[in-house]
Amino acid sequence: MKAVVYRGPKKVAVEEVPDPTIQSPTDAIIRITTTNICGSDLHMYEGRTPVEEGKVLGHENMGVVEAVGEGVDRIQVGDRVSVPFNIACGTCRNCTQGWTSFCLRANPTEGVDGAAYGYASMGPYDGGQAEYLRVPWADFNLLHLPAGEEHENDFTMLSDIFPTGWHGVELSGFQVGDRVAVFGGGPVGLMAAHSAMIRGASQVFVVDKENDRLALAEKFGATPVDFSAHDPVEQLLDATGGRGVDRGVEAVGYQAHDPSGEEHPELVLDNLAQVVRSTGGIGVVGVYMPQDPGANGELAQQGRIPWQFGTFFTKGQSMGTGQAPVKRYNRRLRDLIVAGRATPGLITSHELGLDQAAEGYQRFDQRDDGWTKVLLRPGQA
Ligand SMILES: NC(=O)c1ccc[n+]([C@@H]2O[C@H](COP(=O)([O-])OP(=O)(O)OC[C@H]3O[C@@H](n4cnc5c(N)ncnc54)[C@H](O)[C@@H]3O)[C@@H](O)[C@H]2O)c1
Ligand SMILES: [Zn+2]
Ligand SMILES: [Zn+2]
Repeated sequence: MKAVVYRGPKKVAVEEVPDPTIQSPTDAIIRITTTNICGSDLHMYEGRTPVEEGKVLGHENMGVVEAVGEGVDRIQVGDRVSVPFNIACGTCRNCTQGWTSFCLRANPTEGVDGAAYGYASMGPYDGGQAEYLRVPWADFNLLHLPAGEEHENDFTMLSDIFPTGWHGVELSGFQVGDRVAVFGGGPVGLMAAHSAMIRGASQVFVVDKENDRLALAEKFGATPVDFSAHDPVEQLLDATGGRGVDRGVEAVGYQAHDPSGEEHPELVLDNLAQVVRSTGGIGVVGVYMPQDPGANGELAQQGRIPWQFGTFFTKGQSMGTGQAPVKRYNRRLRDLIVAGRATPGLITSHELGLDQAAEGYQRFDQRDDGWTKVLLRPGQA
């Protein structure tokens, strides 16, 4: 089959690789109909992770079940399904408590709980930017979707970014009526803004510097804040009568930068401590790494980020972090899509054949104007 393979920094190629096979009775094989490029893929693409060359990428997958192992009885051949990016066993301590993003059994990597498809340090699993994908523990992991082709661009956001945005809002301790500042207007930040609006925020701000992304934030009913025009903290304090927001969501990650593009991994954490009111909460879904050899500066290379922890403490704020447990939310979010209450597919900017993956990666990585979310269609020339 054809698959998108990592070939070194800023290099991906579509190559012929062996078809996946059923390796365990609980596996299923999915024929991929849509698979997305994610901001998380860019960490690997830019050479900022220890991913090995030859890895098949892609953790945002959906499709139709092509084959199932003997031990699979809920999921059937022909079912249309969304594949959560987390690979979870369903029976370990973390899985049974709903923390499928920290499954204790799926990832053999020392020191890392939680597994994913096609991702650095997240286990030996191939990704789904390919014609077919092997899904372990298929009965537990897969989400049924209504048959047919309706809502494809909305449903494809269920494998990662819609639940991840929702989780960022959840981790912030959100309550109805809260004012929320989302830092990062990429796909994850836009999904956090959409989630906060659906959940009854009184006002949502989205902070970024890319005009196309800020325009999309407005489409979801959020107030755009351009951090390249003026200090975002001052803008947010002005907009809230000096009080600050109740909740903050971090949807940027360790490659946070200033308007000139220079990286400062502490920048958004500092901004959030300053702009969230005392006793307010912060949800961090942007990725930070235990080590970052590609960073500027020795501390950041060791994964140490000096930030305004004293402000955070003095204001009695709280913070939640980590990979999103997609399965905790994806059924409800699917139902919001079916009911017409959620439209995450609105952020789709490009729908490409698998053969055009290299261009998709390059343009999305450069945050080229209008390249907000790239979907790949393996079945399409
Ligand atoms: N926790 C999870 O489960 C999970 C899942 C998916 C993605 N992620 C992570 O979420 C983050 C965002 O993903 P994405 O797909 O939206 O990526 P993205 O890179 O497209 O978006 C990041 C956005 O942040 C903006 N930004 C940079 N510096 C900023 C600053 N100082 N202030 C405000 N905005 C700033 C950029 O302009 C960009 O638009 C990434 O770190 C990704 O790895 C986490
Ligand atoms: Zn993703
Ligand atoms: Zn588990």
